Amino acid sequence: MLCTLALPACADLTASEERGRAIYFGEKGSALDSAEVQIGDLSTKLPARTFPCASCHGRTGAGKAERGAQPSQISRDALTRPYTVKEATGRKRPPYTSSSFRNAVRAGKDSGGNALSEAMPRFDLTDKQLADVWAFLAVVAEASDPGITDDALTVGIVLDPANPASQAQQKLLGVLAGDIDKLGGVHGRKLTLRIVSPKNAGAETANVFALVFPQSVPPAGFDSTVPVISVLPASAPSAGAFALVASEADQASALKRFATEEWGVVSVKDGCAAKKGETVLLGSAKCLDKATAAKRVLLTQTVFSSIPPASRKVLPAETYVAFAAPLSRVARNAQSAFAQTRARARNDKSSILAEADAYSAAALLIEALMRTGRDVSREGVIDTLEAVRSFEGGMTPPLTFGPNRHVGSRGAEIVRYDALAGTFALSGIWTDPDIR
Ligand code: HEC
Repeated sequence: MLCTLALPACADLTASEERGRAIYFGEKGSALDSAEVQIGDLSTKLPARTFPCASCHGRTGAGKAERGAQPSQISRDALTRPYTVKEATGRKRPPYTSSSFRNAVRAGKDSGGNALSEAMPRFDLTDKQLADVWAFLAVVAEASDPGITDDALTVGIVLDPANPASQAQQKLLGVLAGDIDKLGGVHGRKLTLRIVSPKNAGAETANVFALVFPQSVPPAGFDSTVPVISVLPASAPSAGAFALVASEADQASALKRFATEEWGVVSVKDGCAAKKGETVLLGSAKCLDKATAAKRVLLTQTVFSSIPPASRKVLPAETYVAFAAPLSRVARNAQSAFAQTRARARNDKSSILAEADAYSAAALLIEALMRTGRDVSREGVIDTLEAVRSFEGGMTPPLTFGPNRHVGSRGAEIVRYDALAGTFALSGIWTDPDIR
């Protein structure tokens, strides 16, 4: 079922458009069930239900090239353009009317009387049935997934205006979208960004094709069909949610595994109850004063960043920080592409890490949209994301996904921090549950 009641475009269809839609997509119970098609000169007829219009002309009527044949754009707009249209094949034709449309579908003759190629089957549909299809073709572009028309694809970027980094992120993504458009857009569609506030993200799925969360973690309860990309994984992700790097919890496990492998420490204690000589995990900046007693302190980058630089001096000499997206594991090409995009956004250095997050999440989505092709659907993009292997286009380690794996990089680099000097060691150790 392609059209759920959750989509306003579907709820608004007239009875005739709705019957036409069922034929277009070859749904069970539609007029295609009992119709037949003839292909070329073949005398045998075939059941029409195996030839839904959408399978060749695409979910939005935009046509898609297949095995050499070029199914035309058949949205009503495209069919009735008020001048002589030259098709990709060189064929010229005047605008269609409802009657020349019936003739095309039944007899394989276009509006100028030219024979259509044999790749277009002839359907024995009735006048009334074809009137329904003709009615539906007026709305076919909008009746597909939200946020997509013949000329534009809208992506929601979830940014909290109160977050000081959001302006820099928005500027950077604007430059990125501009670049895509200069190169012809996403398969001919303009990439449009819609800034969405975190509290409206759920409701916005009726207006946007996909959502990107460069700052926050997506809330629970998204419809499974919505592609959602975030930097850190949600604790209860929906089936369409993908995250770039390891969660805080997974980063903490990487720190513990590191402690076992490096020093044979079997149990890492909670930083808030630190005792002299222990190895502790500092879960938040709150217990920083307690941690001074510990022999070793382990913390994630988020917790580390939340400690004001002046207060970091109390950390012991043996302090280790986990980085889920260390620069050492980011492909060179991606680093220079990011630097160039930033330079054009003219952002200062204050939000560079937040910009890297936004850039990486957007880069993954753009890659998936490009790979899916012109006939793009939410379902298709989710399938494409699940087939991504070692993607190196963002400011993260290579990302690999699968049907049961929606976190692209699950490791963390553990780097020693010198509290006295206030600097990090030049290199760390990559700890990854996928690499044993
Ligand atoms: C098996 C693939 C296939 C299916 C299924 C199919 N078409 Fe087509 N159709 C084509 C191709 C290919 C062309 C272009 C033919 C040409 O350029 O000569 C075409 C052309 C057309 C045209 C002519 C447009 C023009 O450029 O003049 C119309 C109208 C049309 N199809 C409507 C439909 C409708 C309605 C359905 C479903 C009831 C449908 N088609 C199903 C492949 C298909």
